[in-house]
Amino acid sequence: MGLSTIILAAGQGTRMRSDLPKVLQPLAGRPLLGHVLDCAAALSADDVCVVYGHGGDAVKNAFPDESLRWVLQAEQLGTGHALQQAIPDTPDSNRVLVLFGDVPLLTPATCQRLLDETPAGDIAVLTVDMEDPTGYGRIIREGSKVSCIVEEKDAGPEEKAVQEINTGVLVGPADKFRHWLADLGNDNAQGEYYLTDVIAMAVNDGVAVHGVKADNWTEVMGINDKKQLAEAERALQARLVDELMAQGVGFADPARVDIRGSLRCGKDVFIDINAVFEGDVELGDGVKIESNNLVRDSKLGAGALVHSNCHIEGATTGTNCEIGPFARLRPGAELANDVKIGNFVEVKKSTIADGSKVNHLTYIGDAEIGKNVNVGAGTITCNYDGVNKHKTVIGDRASIGSNVNLVAPVSVGSGATIGAGSTISKHAPADELTVARSKQITIPGWKRPTKKETR
Ligand code: UD1
Ligand code: CA
Repeated sequence: MGLSTIILAAGQGTRMRSDLPKVLQPLAGRPLLGHVLDCAAALSADDVCVVYGHGGDAVKNAFPDESLRWVLQAEQLGTGHALQQAIPDTPDSNRVLVLFGDVPLLTPATCQRLLDETPAGDIAVLTVDMEDPTGYGRIIREGSKVSCIVEEKDAGPEEKAVQEINTGVLVGPADKFRHWLADLGNDNAQGEYYLTDVIAMAVNDGVAVHGVKADNWTEVMGINDKKQLAEAERALQARLVDELMAQGVGFADPARVDIRGSLRCGKDVFIDINAVFEGDVELGDGVKIESNNLVRDSKLGAGALVHSNCHIEGATTGTNCEIGPFARLRPGAELANDVKIGNFVEVKKSTIADGSKVNHLTYIGDAEIGKNVNVGAGTITCNYDGVNKHKTVIGDRASIGSNVNLVAPVSVGSGATIGAGSTISKHAPADELTVARSKQITIPGWKRPTKKETR
C-alpha cells in the first residue's frame, strides 16, 4: 500500500499575534513547516502534499526547492475542510498520513511506529498523555479503542478531565477519508469542519480506531503562541545538544548554546557558554569555542581556538588558527594554517597564508596575504575608492608596521618592510624598507601660545 503524507498548514495562527504566518515562525532558525517537511521527507511516502492558505504564496515560496504538491485552501474552514482540499488528488489505494504544520518536533521514528502498528484498513491517531491538556482535543476511549475526539471548546467537565490528547497525527485509508470528509458538518462551538469528527464516523462504520501513544509530549506539542514557540525552541535545542554530546562534543552548559542550522563537530570539540551557531557550521577536531561567539556558515579547521566575543560568518580556516577576542571574520575570509587574528581585527574576502599574524585593530579587505607575514596594529587596506573595490597583495615574510594605509590596488613584495605610519599607494619592493610619511622635524625655539589677557 502506497503512502501519501498530507501536511495541514493553512491556518492563520491568530494566537501568534504576528504578521508572519504561523507555519513560517522560526524554530532553531528554520520555519515550523520546514521541520515538518524534514520529518515527512524521512518517511518513504510517494506523495508529500502541503495544504496552504493563510499567508498565501509566502508559505509556498519559503520552500522553493522541494518537490512538493501544494494545495490551496483559500478559506480556512477547519482541519477537516483542509484535508478535503488535498484528498481529491490522493490515490484511493494509498494510506494517508496527516501531519500538522504547527507540530514541528515530531520524529520520523514515531511516525514510522504509527504506520507499522496500524493494520492497513484501520485508522490510528497518535496520542499522548499531558499533565495540562488545556487547548487540545481529548481522546475518548471505549475499552482499548478510540471512540471519538472532543475539542476543548466543545468539551464538558468530564471530557476536560481526560489527559490523553490528540496530537493531530492521523493515519488511515484515502478512500475512507474521502467518504467521511464529504459528510463532515460544522455544527460545533467553533463553526469549523473538524478533522477529528471522522473518528466517530469511522467507529460508526465499524472501522477500528487505534490510539497509539507517543513516548513524550514535547515531541508532539502544538505551537499556537509565542510561549509555546519558546518552549519548543528550548526542547529542540536540548535535543540537538544531546545528540552532539553523545558524539563526544563538550559543552560548559548544555542550556546555554543555540544551534540554528547544522553543526558538525570533530573529536574533542569544546563549546563554552553563549555560543550561537547558524546555518552550516563545521568544527574540526579539538576546536575550542570560548564564550559569546556567533559562528555562521563557516568551517573551522582542527585545533582552532576562538576566543570570546567574535563574529564569524562565511569564513574558513585551516588547522591551529587563533581568532579573537573581539574579531570579525566576514564572508570570504580564508585563513590557512597557524594564522592568528587578534582583537578588533576585521577580515573580509581575503586569503591569509600559513603562519601569518594580524593581531590588533586592523581592517583586511580584498587582500591576498602570503606566508609568515606580520601585519602591525592599526593597518588598513584601503580597498574602496568610493566606487570600486581593489586588491592588496602582500608577499611572504613581509612586515607591515603599525598604522599603515595600503591604498589598493597595491602590492608589497616578499620580505619587504613597511615603516610605521606609511601610506603606501605604489608597489613596495621585496626585501627593502619602504617608508612613506613626512619627515620628522623639530622647530628650534618654538613657543606654545599663551592665553591672551581679557580687558
Ligand atoms: C488541533 C486539533 C486538536 C489537537 C491539536 C493538536 C482539530 C479540530 N483539532 O487543534 O484535536 O489536539 O490540533 O495540536 O483538528 N489548519 C489548516 N486549515 C484550517 C485550520 C487549520 O490547514 O482551516 C492547520 C493549521 O495550519 C495547523 C493545523 O491545521 O497547522 C492545526 O490547526 P489549529 O487551528 O492549530 O488546531 P488546534 O486548535 O490546535
Ligand atoms: Ca494547533
